[in-house]
Amino acid sequence: MKMPVALVWLLAFTNLLIRGESNNAICKKTFNLDPRPHSVSILEFGAVGDGKTLNTLAFQNAIFYLKSFADKGGAQLYVPPGKWLTGSFNLTSHLTLFLEKGATILASSDPSHWDIVSPLPSYGRGVELPGKRYRSLINGDNLLDVVITGDNGTFDGQGAAWWEWLESGTLNYSRPHIIEFVSSKHILISNLTFLNAPSVNIHPVYCSQVHIRKVLIETSVDSPYVLGVVPDSSDNVCVEDSTINVGHDAISLKSGWDQYGINYGRPTTTVHIRNLSLKSPTGAGISFGSEMSGGISDVTVELLSIRSSHVGVAFRTTRGRGGYIRNITISGVDFSGVETAIVADGHTGSHPDDKFDRDAIPVVTHIVMRNFTGEGIGLAGNFSGIGESPFTSICLADVHLKTSSESWICSNVSGFSDDVSPEPCEELTSSPSSCFAGGSIYGGDTVAQSYYTW
Ligand SMILES: *[C@@H]1O[C@H](CO)[C@@H](O)[C@H](O)[C@H]1NC(C)=O
Ligand SMILES: *[C@@H]1O[C@H](CO)[C@@H](O)[C@H](O)[C@H]1NC(C)=O
Ligand SMILES: *[C@@H]1O[C@H](CO)[C@@H](O)[C@H](O)[C@H]1NC(C)=O
Ligand SMILES: *[C@@H]1O[C@H](CO)[C@@H](O)[C@H](O)[C@H]1NC(C)=O
Ligand SMILES: *[C@@H]1O[C@H](CO)[C@@H](O)[C@H](O)[C@H]1NC(C)=O
Ligand SMILES: *[C@@H]1O[C@H](CO)[C@@H](O)[C@H](O)[C@H]1NC(C)=O
Ligand SMILES: *[C@@H]1O[C@H](CO)[C@@H](O)[C@H](O)[C@H]1NC(C)=O
Ligand SMILES: *[C@@H]1O[C@H](CO)[C@@H](O)[C@H](O)[C@H]1NC(C)=O
Ligand SMILES: *[C@@H]1O[C@H](CO)[C@@H](O)[C@H](O)[C@H]1NC(C)=O
Repeated sequence: MKMPVALVWLLAFTNLLIRGESNNAICKKTFNLDPRPHSVSILEFGAVGDGKTLNTLAFQNAIFYLKSFADKGGAQLYVPPGKWLTGSFNLTSHLTLFLEKGATILASSDPSHWDIVSPLPSYGRGVELPGKRYRSLINGDNLLDVVITGDNGTFDGQGAAWWEWLESGTLNYSRPHIIEFVSSKHILISNLTFLNAPSVNIHPVYCSQVHIRKVLIETSVDSPYVLGVVPDSSDNVCVEDSTINVGHDAISLKSGWDQYGINYGRPTTTVHIRNLSLKSPTGAGISFGSEMSGGISDVTVELLSIRSSHVGVAFRTTRGRGGYIRNITISGVDFSGVETAIVADGHTGSHPDDKFDRDAIPVVTHIVMRNFTGEGIGLAGNFSGIGESPFTSICLADVHLKTSSESWICSNVSGFSDDVSPEPCEELTSSPSSCFAGGSIYGGDTVAQSYYTW
């Protein structure tokens, strides 16, 4: 007997999507949280937690001292309750930075307390201004095994001054981040609150094995281009169980900018993002790109609540980027009060300089979005692919959005939809085989396998 087509599709999708969640392992991988054999308090280095005394030297000296414990099982730097004003400082390997309940690391808003450093090679220049950039408040360069945690201690970036300098055009270098790890491995950031970041809150770049959990990230609604967590040219990243409310994108996966990103060639891959509450009044809850020149692939996202945001889920790229965004599975998203739930735009983003290669055309393909619900939505989806490289295999299943209008805009995109309301555009219902390469819709396993060997 012939099964009804809709049921067959449903079975096929179910099968495919169960397999799509197979990188759960990244979040489940446990870190060794045994206490470090040595612990010192920042007080032992003369720090004063009055919110006024500058403690940069105390932190630098403490880290310098703790370096000698790296080969003795590592060490903990303990920060007791208080307000610890500081400029930027480096971390070291095999270190735990622990912020006690009531401890706040307060970033100095005097630019002279921040080193100026070279741009990242995959960007070729500062992201906001050509040339150099300020070093982040907390830096890890080429480190192994670092834990930043605490009993909900706080990093306060005191970003208001930086936001104003950006907006008034008086900034001299691109703004600093709160935490940046470069070329580092085995990093855990947990049980912390981040407030008022000057720009990005947490930026792992060229890193591997990064786990971010139980963080609260908050900046004022009108903080310009402040981002939450930005996994950048990094692999094996987990972000989970957190709340992120920022001016711009709450989570943004990136991998370098045009010719610099293409030459550096390091993708963001094997990423698992789960159980987050996100808000971004002027950006997106979660975005891919627009800087994606090293490629972004094999990302599983599940259980998001996206509220009061300009965009829910965004894929952004443009000519000159090269690279790809592919094999992304996003499921279990609940939107509320979002202007556009899904945006996929092939014409967004600026270029680092005029030397980008116009023939470097990005590829966006094999994106599965399933079990989306939402209300208070303006537009369900706005897909605008690139003429020479349309977005393909965009697969929607079980998507139910209460929108204020008829609600999909599509060009240069193809894919398939199953059980989607409001009724999607023709482009997204037209090519079932694009979501199930191999063509056969019968036999769940065959379908799933053929999808996963595209
Ligand atoms: C911090 O690390 C960078 C290299 O990543 C180095 O150039 C700089 O001198 C370090 N600063 C201090 C204070 O150790
Ligand atoms: C952490 O502290 C912030 C305020 O600094 C508070 O809003 C939040 O609820 C606290 N989180 C937890 C888990 O205690
Ligand atoms: C930028 O540089 C100028 C000239 O050195 C200086 O007066 C100004 O304070 C700097 N601005 C910031 C935000 O650091
Ligand atoms: C974070 O807090 C939870 C309790 O909320 C605790 O189980 C966990 O061990 C803490 N993580 C770290 C790294 O301290
Ligand atoms: C989601 O994260 C919150 C903390 O933000 C936690 O309390 C809750 O148990 C998590 N839920 C799941 C299903 O993991
Ligand atoms: C797609 O990504 C998932 C992880 O999200 C991974 O398990 C799977 O192997 C990837 N498939 C292909 C064909 O690369
Ligand atoms: C669908 O997503 C919701 C969150 O919006 C989640 O609670 C539910 O378990 C998901 N259902 C399935 C079948 O995965
Ligand atoms: C849809 O996206 C295109 C391309 O970015 C943009 O020009 C257009 O304004 C968007 N439409 C709506 C209604 O948001
Ligand atoms: C597809 O892209 C091309 C080139 O960007 C554009 O001219 C064309 O209008 C697009 N197709 C549709 C149907 O919008």
